[in-house]
Parts: sequence; structure tokens; C-alpha cells
Amino acid sequence: MVTGAASGLGRAVALRLAVAGAVVACVDRDGAGAEKTASAVAEQGGSATAHTVDVGDRAAMVATADEVAVRHGRIDILVSSAGIILDVRLLDVEESELEAVLAVNTKGVLFGCQAVAPHMESVGGGAIVTMSSTAIDFAVAGNGLYAMSKVAAAQLSRTLATELGPSGIRVNTVAPGFVETPMTERNFRGADGVIDEARRNQVLGAHRSGTPLGQLCEPEDIADAVLYLVSDQARRVTGQVLRVNGGISMPL
Ligand SMILES: NC(=O)c1ccc[n+]([C@@H]2O[C@H](COP(=O)([O-])OP(=O)(O)OC[C@H]3O[C@@H](n4cnc5c(N)ncnc54)[C@H](O)[C@@H]3O)[C@@H](O)[C@H]2O)c1
Repeated sequence: MVTGAASGLGRAVALRLAVAGAVVACVDRDGAGAEKTASAVAEQGGSATAHTVDVGDRAAMVATADEVAVRHGRIDILVSSAGIILDVRLLDVEESELEAVLAVNTKGVLFGCQAVAPHMESVGGGAIVTMSSTAIDFAVAGNGLYAMSKVAAAQLSRTLATELGPSGIRVNTVAPGFVETPMTERNFRGADGVIDEARRNQVLGAHRSGTPLGQLCEPEDIADAVLYLVSDQARRVTGQVLRVNGGISMPL
């Protein structure tokens, strides 16, 4: 089960897991986008279903997990990639904005875990990967609301790793650096919706030059990290934050 599967990193994760043999449930509030990802999975020879759900709606997430378990027989993997971002200074944050971001980036992650855990427990275990961000390593003006929602996602994942470990369920977090997706295109998309190529080159160049590797991550780089974490190669790895960011931050 992959949330945020209609776009960007979630889409890349869905395609990557399908190539590795998973039957994928593509979950997104953008139902048409989820259908497109499921079709792309089918085109590459895999199997997927699409589910239109708001991850911030706990009852809907539980109902979706129950439906997925019936249709696919079991749930072994959850990847929580659904997310939103708002660029706003903390002193200017409206209560509605606070609620909107936390509803998806924090509550949505917890609701997904709550929804799938009973199904994983019933088959003796599973693997959950939540999507945080390199934003957790920096304090940048205007990025505080998003960063705090992502710190919360990483922290709840660590606690869940402790609570679910005895049931054989591993919970890890991927913290991606800047990846060009519809989410980050807002940095160089004009009010008319058109991408400003000069601004794009400037933004991508700045991020690139900030990394020791001198390269930006592609969605597939994040998908490969997720694949590792849900695979048996990571069978003793839980409660960890894996930074896939070209080395732009390196906390011990
Ligand atoms: N792109 C980056 O540079 C980057 C870096 C670090 C972390 N992330 C995180 O990775 C995740 C994926 O980001 P992306 O770049 O692919 O973004 P994206 O905007 O391309 O995709 C996000 C997807 O989440 C879905 N979504 C949003 N709210 C939802 C809700 N309430 N219920 C269900 N689906 C919902 C959207 O419809 C969309 O398909 C996010 O959690 C983001 O915060 C992205």
C-alpha cells in the first residue's frame, strides 16, 4: 500500500515495488492520478489497484486497508508518501493552515500505520516506511510548519518501531533531499502555471552545489532506498531515519 502514489516520489515507489514483485495498492486523494499510476504498473507487467482516499481521514484509511487486505489477500508493506507543503513564516501561520499540513504529513502518516498494523500483525509482520524530509535537519525561515510536521512523522515512526517490533513489524523513515517533483516545482512555476526555466536552473543549481555529491536525487533514488528498507536485506533495521539527500546534511 503506497499513499501519495499519484505523483512524484509515491509514484516512483509504486513502480519500483511493482518491478520487485509487489502487488501495489495506489492510494491518493487524486483518484485519477492513482489510476494512472496503477495503469503504468500494469504497462510494465505488474499488478496494482487504485484507491481514492484522503489520508487525513482515519475511518477512510481503515476502510481502505480493510478493502486492500481483502482484494490482495494481505498487506505486507505500507509506504506513506502523501504530503503537502506550505511556505509560510511561523508567526503568520493560520490555524487552518496548521491543521491542513498536520492532517496530511503527521496525522495521515499515523492513520496509515494504525490502519495497516492489524493486517500486518495477522500475517506475522510487515514493513512500514514513512516519508520525512531533509527539512528536519535545518531551520529555514518560511519552512517551519512543513519541517515540524516532518519531525513529528519521523518521531512517531521511531516510537511505532518500538511498539510494533514485537509483532515483527519494522518501521523506518526516508528523509529525501530536494527532488524535482510537482511539489518542488512550485519554486520555479510562475503564477501562470508555466515553468520559468531560468529560475529552475538557478534553484536546481543551488541545491546541487550544496551537496558533496554535486547531484540531485531523482525520484528513483528515493524509491530504491524504500525498496531496501522494505526488503529482507533490511530485516534487522527498524526505527531509523535514512537520509537520501546527496549528503547535504549528515547528522550522526
Ligand atoms: N520532492 C521533494 O523534494 C521532497 C523532499 C523531501 C520530502 N518529500 C516528501 O515526499 C513525499 C512525496 O512528495 P512529492 O515530491 O512526491 O510530492 P507530490 O506533490 O508530487 O506528491 C504528493 C502526493 O500526495 C498526494 N496527497 C496530498 N495530500 C493527500 C491526502 N490528504 N490524502 C491522500 N493523498 C494526498 C497528492 O495528491 C500527490 O499525489 C511528501 O511527503 C513530501 O513531503 C519530498
